[in-house]
Amino acid sequence: MIKYSMTGAQDISRLEKQNDQKSYDLSEELNHFEFTNGDKVLDAGCGSGLVTRAIQSRHAQAKLKMEACDFSEIATENAAKFFSKEGIEVKTFVSDLEKIKASDNTYDKVISRYVLEHMKEPVKAAHEFYRILRPGGKVFLIDLDGILFNFHSENEKLNYYLQKLKAGFKFDLFVGRKMNQFLFKAGFTDVKWEAVTINFNTPEELKMEVENYEMRFNLAQSVITEVLGSANDFEDFKKLYLSELASPQNLLFYTKFFVTGTVPLKK
Ligand SMILES: C[S@@+](CC[C@H](N)C(=O)[O-])C[C@H]1O[C@@H](n2cnc3c(N)ncnc32)[C@H](O)[C@@H]1O
Repeated sequence: MIKYSMTGAQDISRLEKQNDQKSYDLSEELNHFEFTNGDKVLDAGCGSGLVTRAIQSRHAQAKLKMEACDFSEIATENAAKFFSKEGIEVKTFVSDLEKIKASDNTYDKVISRYVLEHMKEPVKAAHEFYRILRPGGKVFLIDLDGILFNFHSENEKLNYYLQKLKAGFKFDLFVGRKMNQFLFKAGFTDVKWEAVTINFNTPEELKMEVENYEMRFNLAQSVITEVLGSANDFEDFKKLYLSELASPQNLLFYTKFFVTGTVPLKK
């Protein structure tokens, strides 16, 4: 297990702000998945609880039994505050997805959004999702592929830093394309996937993503500094990336993956 690189209270505000960006539109993302009346659902790696809140407001009549977990106490505490503010009943608990604190065959659905990209061994989470889902239960994964690195700039120094980060990060920012395999390895059947390109090609979207990156870099400062080697390199990288990103001649895109799998009726 590795520590989430952006962990802390400020990441809660960043996640809430990110929710205003069209590129991270949860209501569109949830169109890819179905919930059935009475489902017991786990939001795995809940952060500030945005996914749970969006599911609840969309399926207010469905009497879903929602639970949300995260290995960060700050995250679960903040998520619990949001849930009580919105008057929704959700059980929250602290747990690492590599070893989820839940019995076998507990849930009908497990949803995990933007979490596997932060794990060292995300396939372990897929095995855990399989274990805690009931026979016939479904897992819904949403994750990005290419974040940070699907950026074309001709600045040599920046490209040197990016190569160094790509080789040095302990987590995988190209996890989206691998989630299918994780589900097969864990035993899921009926595995389906869909990929959507996210383009930061309008001034508004680009501006919001530049601001988002500034927050991400500040939160992940120690991890980036460790890979690049010094605080000066961190500052230099951050300055270069943000200025190159804001330049209209360069482009940034991600691929967003939606992957689902079903636990066979006989495990
Ligand atoms: C980018 S945030 C996404 C939060 C939320 N799913 C959302 O879509 O807004 C990633 C979250 O995953 C959590 N996380 C990362 N690795 C984890 C692990 N091994 N076990 C549990 N939670 C983890 C982090 O603490 C963080 O809250």
